[in-house]
Amino acid sequence: MILGAAGKMGPSLARLCRRAADAAGPPRRIFAVSRRVLSEPGIDWLACDLLDRAQVARLPDCPNVLYLAGRKFGSSGSPELTWAMNTVVPANVAERFRASRMVVFSTGNVYALRPPSEGGSREDDPPAPVGEYAQSCLGRERVFEYFANHYGLRCLFFRLNYAVDLRYGVLVDIARRVYAGEPVDLTVPAFNVIWQRDANSYALRSFAHCAAPPRILNITGLQTVAVREAAEFFAARFSRPCRFHAAPGPVALLSDASTAAALMGPPIVTTAQLMELVAAWVRSGGPSLNKPTHFEVADGKF
Ligand SMILES: NC(=O)c1ccc[n+]([C@@H]2O[C@H](COP(=O)([O-])OP(=O)(O)OC[C@H]3O[C@@H](n4cnc5c(N)ncnc54)[C@H](OP(=O)(O)O)[C@@H]3O)[C@@H](O)[C@H]2O)c1
Repeated sequence: MILGAAGKMGPSLARLCRRAADAAGPPRRIFAVSRRVLSEPGIDWLACDLLDRAQVARLPDCPNVLYLAGRKFGSSGSPELTWAMNTVVPANVAERFRASRMVVFSTGNVYALRPPSEGGSREDDPPAPVGEYAQSCLGRERVFEYFANHYGLRCLFFRLNYAVDLRYGVLVDIARRVYAGEPVDLTVPAFNVIWQRDANSYALRSFAHCAAPPRILNITGLQTVAVREAAEFFAARFSRPCRFHAAPGPVALLSDASTAAALMGPPIVTTAQLMELVAAWVRSGGPSLNKPTHFEVADGKF
């Protein structure tokens, strides 16, 4: 069951679950849950507002749960709704599915920002979330941790930063700006990215590592990308100049994903390949790209 399945990652994750289940053999149902019902072959889509305990109680039992629910990336305002989504929904869900295994999507935002020269945060670094959004994400983990420690819920905190595909993500944001001749902001000087398909694959394979107390895994690419270098790369591919505004900031949100790579292998698509694919897509006028991801925001508000 995928909770919060109608967003950027859910539909492709549902399709991956379907294909994996079919390849594995025994018949399995794949449930996708969100307020909005989508249609995907082989997926049982259920409408449910996860803030409503009564609706959560009516969801079918399921041994394996992927928790993706969250406020849309880029949401601002109504901080109480952000906190409710990130702490009340986890309580509703953890109580309902305490006997299940659960891969809980979290974020690298729970770590402190770091100078790129120091490398990314590791799983045993103490959390130091900046701003209310990031604090509420740590709250999400703490609520699940409570249910793991007190009720035996087996879970894994899937600390993802920056899944990308051709339609959305940090690379597309930078490439589009360069293509449009707009200046690129260097306030946040560096980032990590992972191909959405690789992130989905890690998520499925993370069921094998769910535990009580919870396990933590950083999920992202193994390379750190400087925003300036990415912009210059796209400028070269588009044969256009690139412009910058703001001096490079001192710190960024960076994660070290070497533990996940050691456990499950490296991502299949490298950051260099991703950059080539995004350049080709944007150059070809890739249609209907989603709204920006606000990767350059450093105050934790997104
Ligand atoms: N994509 C990334 O790079 C990235 C990076 C770090 C962390 N994450 C985390 O990974 C998770 C999945 O990412 P994503 O990009 O697919 O997220 P997303 O696009 O924001 O999707 C969030 C999902 O939650 C659902 N939802 C929101 N409120 C709900 C409610 N009250 N009841 C039921 N469903 C509700 C939304 O659908 P409805 O509105 O139809 O209900 C949607 O399906 C999110 O938790 C996100 O914070 C993602």
